[in-house]
Amino acid sequence: MKLEDYSGAEAFQVEKRSMFAAEWLPLCAEGQLAQPGDFVSASVGGWSVFGVRDGEGVLRILRNACRHQNMPVVNTPSGHCESFRCRFHGWTYDLQGRFLSAPAPVAPKDPGSPDLHLAPLATTLTAGIAFFRLGAGPDASAAAVPPDLGAAPPAYGGTLTTEIACNWKVCVEQLLAGQSPSPDFAWHWPLLAVRRAGAVTVVEQVVPHTFLRTRLFTHVFGAPADDHRPAAATLKQACETLQAERAAGTLAADKGALTADFHRRLGEAYARAAVA
Ligand code: FES
Repeated sequence: MKLEDYSGAEAFQVEKRSMFAAEWLPLCAEGQLAQPGDFVSASVGGWSVFGVRDGEGVLRILRNACRHQNMPVVNTPSGHCESFRCRFHGWTYDLQGRFLSAPAPVAPKDPGSPDLHLAPLATTLTAGIAFFRLGAGPDASAAAVPPDLGAAPPAYGGTLTTEIACNWKVCVEQLLAGQSPSPDFAWHWPLLAVRRAGAVTVVEQVVPHTFLRTRLFTHVFGAPADDHRPAAATLKQACETLQAERAAGTLAADKGALTADFHRRLGEAYARAAVA
């Protein structure tokens, strides 16, 4: 990896088009969308999406792009609603993303057209985590199946959200540092780490928000999420220190086999982008 891969918009755009467009990506824990109308939105690797539990209890993930002029329909990270109204000109969608109505001055010519519905994305649930896939990019067939997270976790205990001023790769490297694959620790390319300790399972989900902003979801199963608040704060501090070292021109050697494997897969993704 090069230093500029950690701080430049150019590398992030390459990752957006060549990796994140093709891979199965986690959005949230299923437990964050417990009730009909609950939603979570995020920019994941530069792709704006949101997940919602619809009126029939089905969890859906959709592109967060209004069919009127492509602006984001959902503008808060999480919440609860009966329908989605785009704040720009008032187009309104139901919990399945279907177009409902629009003010007369901006109403579409054919309000019955299915092209007016928000674009649904391939969605799946595994071990309490909701994944989506855009299925685009130069290597769209690279990830035919979502990662296997193993056995179902214990009861959902909550999710901590930590905003970190670092590139997403710094956060991944910090999660992997000094770790090796074992029954108690697993890394799932590109954005998830799963740790097990007795009856508790912690899923660390990296959300690449922009090239210098990362959101970390710490999903806790089998214990209250608040128990892990100190650990999340420590991780944030470590990531921001590491990012500052990158900015100062220090690129540390790989810390362990998992970090080396992460860098190898990144290199492959960059190479695919180069020939696309
Ligand atoms: S962009 Fe959404 S209503 Fe115009």
